[in-house]
Amino acid sequence: MAEKTTLSVIKADVGSVAGHQVVHPRLIETARASLKEAVSLGVIEDFYVTHAGDDLQLIMTHRRGVDNPKIHETAWLTFQKCTEVAKELHLYAAGQDLLVDAFAGNVRGLGPGSAEVEMVERPAEPVAIFMMDKTEPGAFNLPIFRMFGDPFCSAGLVIDIAMHAGFRFEVWDIESHQRIFLNCPEEMYDLLMFIGSKGRYVIKRVYARSGKVPKDEAVACMSTDKLSQIAGKYVGKDDPVAIVRAQSGLPAMGEILEAWAWPFLVSGWNRGSHNGPVMVVGQSANRTSRFDGPPRCLGLGFQLADATLVGPVDLFEDPAFEPARREAAELADYMRRHGPFEPHRLPMDEMEYTTMPELMEKHKGKWESVR
Ligand code: 13P
Ligand code: 13P
Ligand code: MG
Ligand code: MG
Repeated sequence: MAEKTTLSVIKADVGSVAGHQVVHPRLIETARASLKEAVSLGVIEDFYVTHAGDDLQLIMTHRRGVDNPKIHETAWLTFQKCTEVAKELHLYAAGQDLLVDAFAGNVRGLGPGSAEVEMVERPAEPVAIFMMDKTEPGAFNLPIFRMFGDPFCSAGLVIDIAMHAGFRFEVWDIESHQRIFLNCPEEMYDLLMFIGSKGRYVIKRVYARSGKVPKDEAVACMSTDKLSQIAGKYVGKDDPVAIVRAQSGLPAMGEILEAWAWPFLVSGWNRGSHNGPVMVVGQSANRTSRFDGPPRCLGLGFQLADATLVGPVDLFEDPAFEPARREAAELADYMRRHGPFEPHRLPMDEMEYTTMPELMEKHKGKWESVR
């Protein structure tokens, strides 16, 4: 049997320049040196280090499967080394996402976010990696649904007989820590009922049903780590990542990108407490600005070749996405005009930074009954 390849994307915000804007180049260099060492030690096969705004992104290939302690430890130690540099440079929020001091075998639940897929590489294995800043894992629900469930986005669902069989969605309830599997197209309306509530129900993985890719092999995987739940308070948004495999019975890369052609609304933005549009960007605009946003998404495309990464292609660095960026800027303007009013500001229970308990305390005893 062919040797399997694992693609792991593990990310953390360990400090940034000029507030929550951008990762410092020295952190990128430090992470590269750390992963280069991991290659020479035979822990990983190949890597690509980048950032999405203030989030440091480690893209790694290896032969060890998902949730491997050695891989997670490598990521954790790399983030720790980068935190040291961030402290030296007095970067903002140095070590922000490393919520514990001691590493315990897996980064999940410790602050960093991770998405991993183990696969038997197809003869040509195109993948897209999407990395968002200033939003939360459920932000992927809409575009992932459109890629794998919406024939108005992915023509292959109608045209390609393999895609006709549909896809299976693994949905996590991140509040009660349960999961459910729903098949599209027949359970599409049930699926949408859940994933429309994107703060609670998030798509974790997608599986193909045609058999062109083994049915137990994920064709998409998202990070679902929720920082506020881990820390018990707001420490930063859970800026998520996704891995999406393309072509040959899966959505074509162009269909995967089509899902980003208009700027849908997500929650996050300033102080993790506002709704706003996602702006897709290439590396040149890969940092947030206005009101710490608007939320951004960077997309990189690779081919996997015997567990090496061939690429990347800067997927949104294209004039075809200018209208989406322009519309996002216009929507940002429109949303901003609401100031502290919902639905720009998130509903009370979703607010990450909230002064409500202090305010309640301050005005305690002043509330009078009315009928
Ligand atoms: P595949 O079926 O080989 O993925 O080709 C489809 C395609 O790329 C059309 O856009
Ligand atoms: P990050 O989650 O990207 O660190 O942003 C936090 C924030 O509060 C921005 O206003
Ligand atoms: Mg930050
Ligand atoms: Mg961030």
